[in-house]
Amino acid sequence: RQMNVAVVGATGAVGTMIIEKLIERKFPVNKLKLLASKRSAGSTITIGNETYTVEETTDQAFENIDIAFFSAGGSITERFSQAAIDAGALVIDNTSAFRMTEGVPLVVPEVNPEKIREHKGLIANPNCSTIQMVAALKGVKDQFGLNRLIVSTYQAVSGAGADAIHELEQQSKNFANRAENEANILPSGGDKKHYPIAYNVLPQIDVFGDDGYTLEELKMMNETQKIFDDYEMEVAATCVRLPVVTGHSESVYIELDRDDVTVAELQEAIQSVPGVVLEDDPATQTYPMPLFAEGKDEVFVGRVRKDRDKKNGFHLWIVSDNLVKGAALNSVQIAETYLSQIEE
Ligand code: A2P
Repeated sequence: RQMNVAVVGATGAVGTMIIEKLIERKFPVNKLKLLASKRSAGSTITIGNETYTVEETTDQAFENIDIAFFSAGGSITERFSQAAIDAGALVIDNTSAFRMTEGVPLVVPEVNPEKIREHKGLIANPNCSTIQMVAALKGVKDQFGLNRLIVSTYQAVSGAGADAIHELEQQSKNFANRAENEANILPSGGDKKHYPIAYNVLPQIDVFGDDGYTLEELKMMNETQKIFDDYEMEVAATCVRLPVVTGHSESVYIELDRDDVTVAELQEAIQSVPGVVLEDDPATQTYPMPLFAEGKDEVFVGRVRKDRDKKNGFHLWIVSDNLVKGAALNSVQIAETYLSQIEE
């Protein structure tokens, strides 16, 4: 079964990766339509020996489209997703616009593929930091129960889009002239003040929401409960941006329902999930790092340790490419799982 596929935000950091993954994974694409803003309409993107012309995103652009990937910001999803659904397309949305909307499946295929069947036209792709964390903890939760989770993230700038990558590069080049180091985007394009990211650490991702948490932190906490379908689970997040181009890292503390689990058993449960790879050997200084996760599909886990005070507590370190499993790959895997379900 061949699909007509549209990518909204095709010129962006995630959109480009979605196109790459569709080709690399041989997704059954019949027609590929690349959509972006009016600014890029008419520009061309060459993939292999095919050249595609980018078109403006309009209500009419979705005629005959079967699957529409959206990755152009929440406001574009809010503006155009209904037109795509009305045209008969399944929308797979990488933005946060509808993730917490009741009845909208929020899916990581390794964790809750069955939710795809409940869609009413739109399936949401979770936040990048959430995806790698729930994938890494799926086996642990199933085997030992997980009642508490505290995460601190170390996130790359590519999560904030192509312009943020450019900002880090510019600032790094200009670092000798610190005073002239202009910041226009980070920590959040939508907030009033901007701070340099080069040679710095920003404890703010997205704007502030309730109770002193940022929206990124609220996304991680709420989405984790929704994906695991466990609203009793205690989740707390601190989200931090680093001058890393691609690859999010996370320091995670968990408390299990059981207090007799060994490190070896926990490691076994972690790597029982497809796409999750254990890189954990202090003797050889083996642990995951973002530089080495870049461009890879897998979620890498290391530094697994027992807490010294809590019998059911463990610490671990999770790294994955935020543009790949954190965004584009997970979206394409949702489409693949959807196809295999409708073909059953
Ligand atoms: P464009 O290149 O035409 O601005 P990133 O996340 O890397 O910043 O990319 C954002 C993506 O969203 C780009 O592909 C961008 O296209 C697209 N986009 C921005 N504004 C609009 C809009 N008004 N309509 C459709 N796509 C948009």
